[in-house]
Amino acid sequence: MLIHTIAEVRAKVREWKKQGLTVGLVPTMGALHDGHLSLIKKSVETCDKTVISVFVNPIQFCPGEDFEKYPRTLDADRKLAEDAGVDIVFAPSAEEMYGAGHIMSNDFLTYVIPPFFYQDKLCGKSRVGHFDGVCTVVNKLFNIVQPDFAFFGEKDRQQLIIIQKMVKDLSIPVEIVPCPIVREDDGLAMSSRNRYLNDEERKDALVLKSILFNIKVCYNSGIKDVKALTETAYSYLKPCHSLEYLDFRDKNDLESKTIADNDTIVFIAVKLGSVRLIDNIALAG
Ligand code: PAF
Repeated sequence: MLIHTIAEVRAKVREWKKQGLTVGLVPTMGALHDGHLSLIKKSVETCDKTVISVFVNPIQFCPGEDFEKYPRTLDADRKLAEDAGVDIVFAPSAEEMYGAGHIMSNDFLTYVIPPFFYQDKLCGKSRVGHFDGVCTVVNKLFNIVQPDFAFFGEKDRQQLIIIQKMVKDLSIPVEIVPCPIVREDDGLAMSSRNRYLNDEERKDALVLKSILFNIKVCYNSGIKDVKALTETAYSYLKPCHSLEYLDFRDKNDLESKTIADNDTIVFIAVKLGSVRLIDNIALAG
């Protein structure tokens, strides 16, 4: 069922809750791929009812980013979601979410702002204000759907850690379920932005997984010094790769690591032409 208004979603969820049914939420910006479908599958397995949101959230894009060009494929998304067992596809307009006239204006919107320490690094460093927009919309979606469980991919691991922190700090009654990264056969992490890549860039994009997988092999062979682990990575980079960051951080609080351990996540962001790709790997396991 496709729903565009907050009132209709609330009414439907209220009915379900009266019947004692559990509700799962999978927040998305649409352009669904197998990564999203793995979150949906997990929700359908875990919960009686599943809602996905499809909303290209204007307030999480920075000036000059791809908001206008972000793929919008609602008909295809709806079909994929319903075939996968989703009960409601919630696709609100920006006006429905933020009010007419106030859509992109910080002055007229109450924001949820995660701690500076969680946002001043990795993606938050170049995408200033991005996580304010993410937390604000996710908090709003939680208030609208009131899910028992919400499913987030580990591909956007900084986002996942920030949302877990928000839920804990604000005592939001929802269980966050992290879901593993889904990769193409050749190892590229699935992302809606992969469709921007031309054939050459698609091949060059494998650098992210090559660097991360190599670091993990080196770590498993006994190298723990982050400087040493980083140095081997640079040999994979070609002039077409613009490395934004390669960073070793604690999986719980994003604290920087100089010696890698089993709590370490290695994060990477690379720009290929105008396409910015991110990936990460946990060193444990
Ligand atoms: O990960 C995403 O697709 C978005 O950041 C989210 C969580 C749907 C919020 O707009």
